[in-house]
Amino acid sequence: MQKTFPDGFLWGGSMAANQVEGAWDDAGKGVSTSDLQPQGVHGHAVERANRPANIKDVAIDFYHRYPEDIQLFAEMGFKVLRTSIAWTRIYPNGDETEPNEAGLGFYDRLFDEMIRHGIQPLITLSHYEMPYGLVEKYDGWGGRETIACFERYARTVFSRYRDKVKYWLTFNEINMALHAPFTGVGLRGERTKQAIYQAIHHQLVASARAVKACHEIIPDAKIGNMLLGGVRYPITCKPADVLKAQSVNREWLFFGDVQARGAYPNWIQRYFRENDIHVQMTEQDSADLRETVDFISFSYYMSGCAAAEPEQYPTSRGNIMKMIPNPHLASSEWGWQIDPEGLRYLLNELHDRYQKPLFIVENGLGAKDVPQADGTIHDDYRIQYLKEHLIQVREAIADGVDLLGYTSWGPIDLVSAGTAQMSKRYGFIYVDRDDDGQGTLERRRKQSFFWYQQVIKSNGGSLA
Ligand code: BG6
Repeated sequence: MQKTFPDGFLWGGSMAANQVEGAWDDAGKGVSTSDLQPQGVHGHAVERANRPANIKDVAIDFYHRYPEDIQLFAEMGFKVLRTSIAWTRIYPNGDETEPNEAGLGFYDRLFDEMIRHGIQPLITLSHYEMPYGLVEKYDGWGGRETIACFERYARTVFSRYRDKVKYWLTFNEINMALHAPFTGVGLRGERTKQAIYQAIHHQLVASARAVKACHEIIPDAKIGNMLLGGVRYPITCKPADVLKAQSVNREWLFFGDVQARGAYPNWIQRYFRENDIHVQMTEQDSADLRETVDFISFSYYMSGCAAAEPEQYPTSRGNIMKMIPNPHLASSEWGWQIDPEGLRYLLNELHDRYQKPLFIVENGLGAKDVPQADGTIHDDYRIQYLKEHLIQVREAIADGVDLLGYTSWGPIDLVSAGTAQMSKRYGFIYVDRDDDGQGTLERRRKQSFFWYQQVIKSNGGSLA
């Protein structure tokens, strides 16, 4: 079997504005939903007036330190860096008619710096944050008006960065709206399935309109969707468990089906009927949805199981979704089950289903790193995790999967989305900051930094 990856394979890392930038209210930036989740996605959202200072306000200060960080990514040989634009830097409340020039200027400088180092930007339009102004005014994505606000934002950044950014993603882990509605679609409080699916519908239409705008404004760019690859296996081979696993997988594949095939799948109609969900969809919405993505991107950290009678099994929480643990797999310190072969399985499933190129835009191990007395960090557990996954990625490519690239999550330590911890580290680069915000923010190369550098240099040939 071919040991190296395809020519031009895009190796790199992945992060998000709200988890790295800090400078939460600098240069005219507005308040985002993430700014009101001081304890992360799993914590409670606070009101604007009661917002406590929190770790994301500074995060890892990427806003000011990006030249040093990009230099380190270039030293590892990155071909691509995924990050997001904070919508609130461009449209602070979300519904202005003119963008904030200071925010646009920041991303000009950031993208120029990447390009100067030969690193392609891969940019997410919305990564777990939206202007809180739109939540107050339109009930987040619950209001149809938010579609036009998002389209204006998307058109603004496509026009501004058309010569700099050739890879785009619309909404991060769009399927998370089902599990974390405030984070995903800006809905406050307990909401019905009806309300959540209506908001999701608006977001799917906005995503399709952004795809259309991107195709018009940057014809040589590629734009993808972004799914949380929440693979579930049946807990046993009992047919009822197999059917249950199929339906649980369809909950998240629904989003890919709409974004890659251009229409709601048949089976969701039964689900809507049985749950008394009536999505208001105009003819124009259906026409808009027909504009499909160029590639499918996804995150993959773990797999889990599903059962027809879930009460008989324990449950655990992975990255936001609940699941039944797989008795054949070990877990990370945060209880996420480690399943490298699941990544090969998922790549094949997605490729079979959509027949479009794929892009792995998140994968990695969150772990506590303990620096040695001499300051070095020996993260062999992280190397092991990544290596095992990359070997399965290579297998999937040998199976015939068309894969554009791989960006591991958090190439530099950053604030956890789920729990707002700094101690849950994913990076090749250590950042001196703890969960209380103490530390110098100094950057330090870990053992995995040199390992990944070799992987990229050898185009995967150095993996066992
Ligand atoms: C994904 C998100 O769910 O998982 C990222 O897109 C997030 O924003 C990553 O950071 C890892 O999750 P966590 O909770 O460990 O930060």
